Amino acid sequence: MPDTTANERTRPDRLPEWAALGEHRAKLGDAHLRDLFAADPERGGRYTAQVGDLHLDYSKHLVTDETLRLLRALAEASDVAGLRDAMFRGDRINTTENRAVLHTALRAPRDAVVEVDGENVVPEVHRVLDKMASFAERVRSGAWRGHRGDAITAVVNIGIGGSDLGPAMAYEALLPYTASETGDKPGIEVRFVSNVDGADLHEKLRGLDPATTLFIVSSKTFTTVETLTNATSARAWLLSGLGGEVEAVARHFVAVSTNAEKVAEFGIDTRNMFEFWDWVGGRYSLDSAIGLSLMVAIGPERFREMLEGFRTVDEHFRTAPIEDNAPMLMGLLGIWYSAFHGAQSHAVLPYSHYLARFPDYLQQLEMESNGKSVDRAGRPVSWPTAPVVWGTPGTNGQHAYFQLLHQGTQLVPADLIGFARPVPGMTAELIAQHDLLMANMFAQGQALAFGKDPDEAAAEGVPPEQVPHRTFGGNRPTTTVLADELTPSVLGQLIALYEHKVFVQGAVWDVNSFDQWGVELGKALAKRIEPALTAGEEVPGLDSSTAALVSRYRSLNG
Ligand code: F6P
Repeated sequence: MPDTTANERTRPDRLPEWAALGEHRAKLGDAHLRDLFAADPERGGRYTAQVGDLHLDYSKHLVTDETLRLLRALAEASDVAGLRDAMFRGDRINTTENRAVLHTALRAPRDAVVEVDGENVVPEVHRVLDKMASFAERVRSGAWRGHRGDAITAVVNIGIGGSDLGPAMAYEALLPYTASETGDKPGIEVRFVSNVDGADLHEKLRGLDPATTLFIVSSKTFTTVETLTNATSARAWLLSGLGGEVEAVARHFVAVSTNAEKVAEFGIDTRNMFEFWDWVGGRYSLDSAIGLSLMVAIGPERFREMLEGFRTVDEHFRTAPIEDNAPMLMGLLGIWYSAFHGAQSHAVLPYSHYLARFPDYLQQLEMESNGKSVDRAGRPVSWPTAPVVWGTPGTNGQHAYFQLLHQGTQLVPADLIGFARPVPGMTAELIAQHDLLMANMFAQGQALAFGKDPDEAAAEGVPPEQVPHRTFGGNRPTTTVLADELTPSVLGQLIALYEHKVFVQGAVWDVNSFDQWGVELGKALAKRIEPALTAGEEVPGLDSSTAALVSRYRSLNG
């Protein structure tokens, strides 16, 4: 049994399984997907996995049965399953913050038992979910009244990072589910403010009436400068619009946080606070009270369907054998490319406009979790960790950066995500466009994998001098994720798939996927520099570049 104690763990790149993968990679050389497919007519059907409603096709990866066997051996040697079980059990696997990591408890059924320090947290989770549901229903039905007695028509979520990206992404993904239950009136519009750039709040308040606007201030710590600054400005906007009566705040501001003291200090009645817990990481918090704005938009029932989707994948991740385990496979394939193919980035390309913000969401999930350069024991790593994650919806990317994906010098593994059916409610013309959209997704996977060789180009009549320009090397790997339709449940499944993929990678790379110390330095320096900009104070010890920039900024401001 391998040792998973942080200090004594064998470093991943010293495991024999890592070395075996290196040798295997050398042997595979430039083996082409054309040949791999030709050698195995069943490949397209064989290299697939099913989790809930998600069908994964990973046949267009630069792998053979042997590669997959070796990757599984690496996962076993890294004891990914042991760490996974420790996470589900509530062990304090976030060692630098001494916290359990239990986002999976947020979607546990009512009768589940998940203990932190001997206490079952599931009843608390459901108490808050119920409180959120009753609040969301009151806002949606108009029973919750603003200070002047009006029903709420717009919600503004103020938060940043995990307190913004999850609900903002999911709200956009589930827009078709935001109409009122009866469909007789428009649903509640939700806007998201995150940036400390005043332009964000300025634009998001445009056209809103303070009397019918509700602010949800979302911050796990309730100390995040951007959020508190925007919340303070929003309160000033509200009060100036409602005649300055401070009692208005209670009817127009609620908070989502783990920090009741700071919420009270800010002036929000803690009866209007929806709590969560330190064992929920910010980037894993969508299904906690951080999802309140989403729940108001789509209603508690749909929100619960989304949680069920998460749960489906949790169960799969916990119990499916490694060879069928979709998050395991996705995580291991990513490791294969970063460690053994030198890939430094990973594209996520949803063929669904509703998922436009999914890559942004994944940037925090993946890069804040695994963008680390020391292992869990604090020793420098000598293997690559998280790649840069990026992407935009197809087909737009095809007319922008796909050139590089097809013919550039970098290998960029990509995920293509699409749906068999468009969301309900579109006109017949728009429904018909869906086939074209999906034809593009399938075509891109095919073109990236198989390319077009010089003979094929010449046979098409390409003039000889243009053949090198119009040849496609192929062998560019993709995973295709296909589901029936983008429902709340499917969205939950997709998110959980990536959460656990990130977990698998962090476990093999031996990094703590649940802290984020790398964001602290910039925050501290901004605090030091700010007085120089606002009050002209001298900041001792500034480097010559920053000092000159500060001084130029000041002089430009007169
Ligand atoms: O600065 C990074 C971070 O701590 C993220 O991890 C987190 O999601 C975000 O800031 C917001 O934090 P909070 O919810 O405490 O305002």
